[in-house]
Amino acid sequence: MPKLARRITETSPKSYGMVAKAAGMDHTNRDIIHLELGKPHHTTPVHIVEATVTALRNGAVHYSDLPGLPEFRAAIRDKLNSYNGIDAGMDDIIVTNGLTQASFAAFMALVDDGDEVILLEPYYPQHLGKIEIAGGRPVIVALDPKNYYAIDPKEIEKAITPRTKAIVLVNPCNPTGRAYSREELAGVAELALRHDLYVIADEVYDQIVFDGASHVSIASLPGMRDRTVSMYAFTKSFAMDGWRLGYVTAGPEVLGAIAKVVATEVTHVNTFIQYGGIAALTGPSEILADMVADDQRKRDLVVERLNQMPGVTCALPQGTIYAFPNISGTGLKSQDAADRLLQEADVVVESGAFYGAAGEGYLRVCFGSESYERLELAMDRMQAYFNGL
Ligand SMILES: Cc1ncc(COP(=O)(O)O)c(C=O)c1O
Repeated sequence: MPKLARRITETSPKSYGMVAKAAGMDHTNRDIIHLELGKPHHTTPVHIVEATVTALRNGAVHYSDLPGLPEFRAAIRDKLNSYNGIDAGMDDIIVTNGLTQASFAAFMALVDDGDEVILLEPYYPQHLGKIEIAGGRPVIVALDPKNYYAIDPKEIEKAITPRTKAIVLVNPCNPTGRAYSREELAGVAELALRHDLYVIADEVYDQIVFDGASHVSIASLPGMRDRTVSMYAFTKSFAMDGWRLGYVTAGPEVLGAIAKVVATEVTHVNTFIQYGGIAALTGPSEILADMVADDQRKRDLVVERLNQMPGVTCALPQGTIYAFPNISGTGLKSQDAADRLLQEADVVVESGAFYGAAGEGYLRVCFGSESYERLELAMDRMQAYFNGL
């Protein structure tokens, strides 16, 4: 047979870590608790489902505008203006199949063969594979766990070369749960402006921030609007992971390039689900607030319980649905601990090293994927396991 494309065989598109190892185990007679995947436990709010079904019944079954329905983009514009502080008009937005498609299109639009793209480690593995598929070279900058993975612009600057094209920023950060401060983001912005770089900002968790904190979008900082690709989705905040619905905004030139990729790849996003997106953005705001409050309650439970386990310490995540406990006091390597917890405690968590070497010594524990009661049971099992070491 002829060879497969090098862009696939010589790159590292997303691997599935513990998700793959735990696959199929639910069909055994073991009661496995899944804290490995960021799949929301909430279900999509009913008014969103109803709006979509009504749209489908009313005949929203044909092609829509390529960048997305105008009334949907108008609702997204209002959210970007008011929540993210991003000065976007409705023509500055493209609706995408989740954030995954937005980021793929962004890398394809911006990264040329041999371009370097900076990833902050621990990183989101999908980004690494996409940079490579686009022909670029991921350049890893390890953040310091001792400083709870705060952004250090001096470390980033050391990695910048004449080939550097962009810095990828996941804020709030999967896997660490950090929501970056305005000062940290200003440090990245200053580098981008001084070295003439793009920032590719994955803000899929922008609406899941805790303790009343405000999310800061880097595109809202002075001078950053046109050099930032800001990407969002309904996936986590509205529990719409299976819908595949997101959006991207950028300056006109970059957005035009992204539009070419999206139109070539999928034409546009499924028409009737866009009505669900309109309902999500224009419906009652208490629904989102209630889901975030529930996530915060679960975060508090998981972090408190993790900190009671021998050899484990866990910082309080400021956003996302993940805790990132340090388990180095148990003497186990991350992958070993994740494997043993699956085999011996029937709890699936991800190894911190899955997100790069800077995550060694950590586990990623998703507190958004199960009910409070199941999380309590998972914590009991983990506690018993670590007690017995
Ligand atoms: C940082 C980050 N980016 C992107 C995604 C994928 O988002 P979507 O399902 O909207 O494509 C996820 C999902 O876990 C994520 O954590």
